[in-house]
Amino acid sequence: MSSAGLEGRGVVVTGAASGIGRATALRFAEEGAKVLVADLNREGAEATVEDIGKSGGVALAVVGDLSDQAVVDRVVGRTVEALGGVDVLVNNAGIMDRMSTLGETDDAEWERVLRVNLTAPFLLTRAVLPHMLAAGGGSIVFTASEAGLRGGAAGAAYTASKHGVVGLVKSLAVMYREQGIRANAIAPGGTATHIIDGVDLSTRGAATLRPYQAVAGRYAEPEEQAAAIVFLASPAASNISGAVLPVDNGWSA
Ligand code: NAI
Repeated sequence: MSSAGLEGRGVVVTGAASGIGRATALRFAEEGAKVLVADLNREGAEATVEDIGKSGGVALAVVGDLSDQAVVDRVVGRTVEALGGVDVLVNNAGIMDRMSTLGETDDAEWERVLRVNLTAPFLLTRAVLPHMLAAGGGSIVFTASEAGLRGGAAGAAYTASKHGVVGLVKSLAVMYREQGIRANAIAPGGTATHIIDGVDLSTRGAATLRPYQAVAGRYAEPEEQAAAIVFLASPAASNISGAVLPVDNGWSA
């Protein structure tokens, strides 16, 4: 039963092969939206598409690295062609394999994290804007992080990338408000996904991860992040733009 006003909408969710993105894609499909799953991980992306299909929803996948302009163009082209337009873009894909302090960060780590977490959302947003403008509006939601709001939640490159995401959200909200485009972000605290499982705990920065559960009580479930993303994307949030919503059980309060 859909109630969020998203029926028939064309929605792109990046990083939807697993974790928060997968839960978000499934949630949009439950609301009757048509979903383009964009991810590097072919097997995971195909599983998300298959699961949406099994429940009677419409979804398709584009597999590739979203920091590559050609992949971004393919994602937008397929969405317009197969789903009829891009009403919602969820820039969610991200990486955090190390929580290095600035001194521990080498050039390769810096460039990789900035490219995936900040440049890819920039490329995709720039590519969907003309379509949203032509359609008279749209909604863009980013998965930022607590690390986009303060300095003690992750490594240096990740923290810089997520602060950059918050900057993109604010700039978009101001520059496109008259054209009906809303931009918002969620700022998840620790959430039970592969990204947490994959963190290299040998860095000094990783010490910040350990007390998280003690303070916040538990990790969030991906579905709890997905609910906030779908709300921000939906008409229920029609006057909300430029917001960064913590979803962390009060951790950052
Ligand atoms: P995840 O690792 O389960 O999902 C991330 C997805 O992004 C994966 O399917 C991966 O294949 C995809 N991806 C990575 N690089 C890509 C690229 N270059 N091109 C296309 N796809 C790519 O982790 P999770 O937690 O679901 O991550 C989603 C977002 O949530 C990320 O932006 C992350 O930074 C953010 N986040 C996660 C938190 C957590 O505790 N799990 C806390 C705060 C933010």
